[in-house]
This record gives sequence, C-alpha cells and structure tokens, in this order.
Amino acid sequence: MARVDQARWDARYTAGDRQMRNGDASPFLIAFAPQVSGKHALDVACGTGRNAIFLAKHEFHVDALDISPVGLAKLDQAAAGLDITTHAVDLDEYQPPVNTYDLIVAANYLNRPLIPKLLAALNPHGILVMDTFMNDPRNSANQHNPDYLLRQNEFLSYISDGFETLKYQEFSVIAKGGTMWKQAIAARKIETSK
Ligand SMILES: C[S@@+](CC[C@H](N)C(=O)[O-])C[C@H]1O[C@@H](n2cnc3c(N)ncnc32)[C@H](O)[C@@H]1O
Repeated sequence: MARVDQARWDARYTAGDRQMRNGDASPFLIAFAPQVSGKHALDVACGTGRNAIFLAKHEFHVDALDISPVGLAKLDQAAAGLDITTHAVDLDEYQPPVNTYDLIVAANYLNRPLIPKLLAALNPHGILVMDTFMNDPRNSANQHNPDYLLRQNEFLSYISDGFETLKYQEFSVIAKGGTMWKQAIAARKIETSK
C-alpha cells in the first residue's frame, strides 16, 4: 500500500499539480506556534513543506517526514539555509521518538493509528496541531475515499487524559473542485508521563 502511495504522490509532485504547490501555512499552526516554549518541531506528511518552511522561518528546528522523495527534494530546494531536516519514511510503520517535540503538525493527512504516537512524541507542554478534510454532507466537492476523511468531531475523540484541547474548529474551504469541510485541532500535553 505504502509503495502505491509513494508512486502516486511522486507522480503528483513531478507533474507540479497545482493543488500540491506550497501555499500559506495552516491557520492553527500560525495561531499556536507563538504559544510554544521550545523550538523543536515535527511536520508529518510534510509534502513540499509549506508548514515546515513557516516553522523554520520562525526559528524552529524542523524534522520533516514524508513518503515521497520527489516532494522532499522540492522542500530541500525551497528550504536552502533553513533549519529543516527531511526524512523519507513510511508513516504507516514509523515510530516517532517519545517526549521529543515541542510542536507537531499534521495537515491534510489522516493516519488514525499515528495520532496517539504523535501525542506521545510531544514534550511536556508541547502542542499538536492537526487539520484535514471531513466526510460531511455539506461537501460539494468530489470526496474520494471516505477512509481518509474525518467523522464528525473525530479529532476531539483522540484527546485523552494528560492532554488538553486548546481549540477545535470546523470550517469550509474551496478544494478538490468544490466546497470541502475541514476539522482543525490544537492540543497540549499537560502530563510528563505520556
Ligand atoms: C495532501 S499532502 C499534504 C502535504 C502537507 N502536509 C500540506 O498540508 O501541505 C499528503 C502527503 O502525505 C504523504 N503521505 C501519504 N502516505 C504516506 C505515508 N504512508 N507515509 C508518509 N507520508 C505519506 C504524501 O506523500 C503527501 O505529501
């Protein structure tokens, strides 16, 4: 499966798919990055790295992970002089180090088994920011595979004891040829033992 994913994403990045070009960073990342005390950040499924670049420009040291070497090469090129280290990994298998990052971002990528590992990878007081698309009756765009779309309030269901939800929001964007609803969440680790 992961090899199929890699081939698909490599092809999109090679073709320079307009949707895949770097735009602005995720709104919750822009809002919450200034609230983080440390400067060690992780961008999972970074693609060509709009969020990693935003963080590095705000003095974070960023590890950026993705399965697509083509996307990562574009990020390396765009990030010359910035403190971003790219790693080609399959996030279906990857085990992030625990208690390591002050800020983690996962945008436009849904890998349900990975979410508890990302929470564990936060340093005490670290913040996880996630946003991605929902399976929602209000969507007018082609929805693709519902396995990769969030259920109602789904992000909230991952925030367990030892973490606090700082902000949760549902909002619509123009994407995939129509309107799509998204969820975004920012959650902070409040215990040291997780
Ligand atoms: C829609 S893009 C999101 C890119 C970036 N996070 C953003 O919001 O701009 C999804 C990314 O997930 C990556 N991806 C898909 N499956 C993956 C896997 N199993 N392991 C690592 N990365 C994966 C793709 O290569 C692609 O870059």
